[in-house]
Amino acid sequence: MKKENANNDIIHTVNLNKDLKRIISEYDNEKKIIITDNNCKNLCLPVIADIIDDNFMIFEINSGEEFKSINTVQKIWTFLLQNNFNRHSLMINLGGGMVTDIGGFAASTFKRGMPFINIPTSLLAQVDASVGGKTGINYGGLKNEIGVFNQADYVIISNTFLKTLSKSEFLSGFAEMLKHALICEEKHLNELFDFFINNYKKINFSQITDLIIKSVNIKKHFIKKDIFDTGIRKTLNFGHTFGHAFESLFNLKLKHGEAVAQGIICELFLSARKLNFDKNKLEQINSMIKKIFGVLFIPDEDFEAVYSLMKHDKKNTNNVINCVLLEGIGKPKIDQALSKNEVYNALKYLNNI
Ligand SMILES: NC(=O)c1ccc[n+]([C@@H]2O[C@H](COP(=O)([O-])OP(=O)(O)OC[C@H]3O[C@@H](n4cnc5c(N)ncnc54)[C@H](O)[C@@H]3O)[C@@H](O)[C@H]2O)c1
Repeated sequence: MKKENANNDIIHTVNLNKDLKRIISEYDNEKKIIITDNNCKNLCLPVIADIIDDNFMIFEINSGEEFKSINTVQKIWTFLLQNNFNRHSLMINLGGGMVTDIGGFAASTFKRGMPFINIPTSLLAQVDASVGGKTGINYGGLKNEIGVFNQADYVIISNTFLKTLSKSEFLSGFAEMLKHALICEEKHLNELFDFFINNYKKINFSQITDLIIKSVNIKKHFIKKDIFDTGIRKTLNFGHTFGHAFESLFNLKLKHGEAVAQGIICELFLSARKLNFDKNKLEQINSMIKKIFGVLFIPDEDFEAVYSLMKHDKKNTNNVINCVLLEGIGKPKIDQALSKNEVYNALKYLNNI
């Protein structure tokens, strides 16, 4: 049962175990389960070992996007059933976006919903996936095709976890932070680029805390007004219309943020073509993105596949590809229809950048 005082709070903590103990005490003696993946079990679970008592069970899932599947959800449901969990029990999702997405979905659907808390451990999950109530799984080769909107009781964010992230996982989250800045504020975009330049060799985690808070606040701003993604929340999909297609094209082997970074390059190009986004800024930003992430090469023979994947995007209406484009930094426009020709031109631009 959702706690009445659990106001879907997002807590940026500097004292993780203390805050966690306080929050978990709200769930009294209910049974508790921690869902985590094999990497996070080794690297992140020990960080919160202090809070784990006899009321806790641990359920480990395989890491990797291919395991964000109905098969894994069934395993979680079965474990919950076999161990007599009920609607008052608590699920804690400890991991990256894959764990918070699938754990949130399993909790939301088990006995019509048990409460859950997200403890995101990857940068991407901290600034994006664990926040905002989208839960779900991949299905039929398509990303996040099955799912429900349901808010976590709490999202607890600590930069302690980030120390064990690989550089590429770190950058994957950084792409979503860039997206937040692009849809909101040029000053924040410059702060992020400065952070990258100063932390190119070794990331200083104490310097990123404020940037994470800013990034989460931008996401919160768009969600607050549109929980169910029918209007302004769609802005958060900037970079994702192409990004999701790239993820599917590469059979989910491309990291989410890496795909989004490439999507941003394409969607900024179309912003300049269709909405007069400043061409100098386009070149500056895209050359910085190229420096940070490198660029994908999409062979001509795959253009049709990318277009066809984009046509399956669940944000489309009337079979028209709907995309978010920018008139300028912080000036997003949702529901911009894209033609096949425009999609192809953006892919050609990506290949030649
Ligand atoms: N629900 C949403 O609103 C939303 C938004 C964006 C992305 N997503 C989803 O999030 C997922 C991507 O998130 P992700 O990049 O965190 O993926 P992930 O959960 O697969 O994590 C990436 C890798 O990092 C490892 N990892 C996580 N935390 C770690 C840590 N502290 N130290 C070392 N390794 C760690 C994981 O085990 C995994 O191998 C995708 O499934 C995407 O669809 C959801």
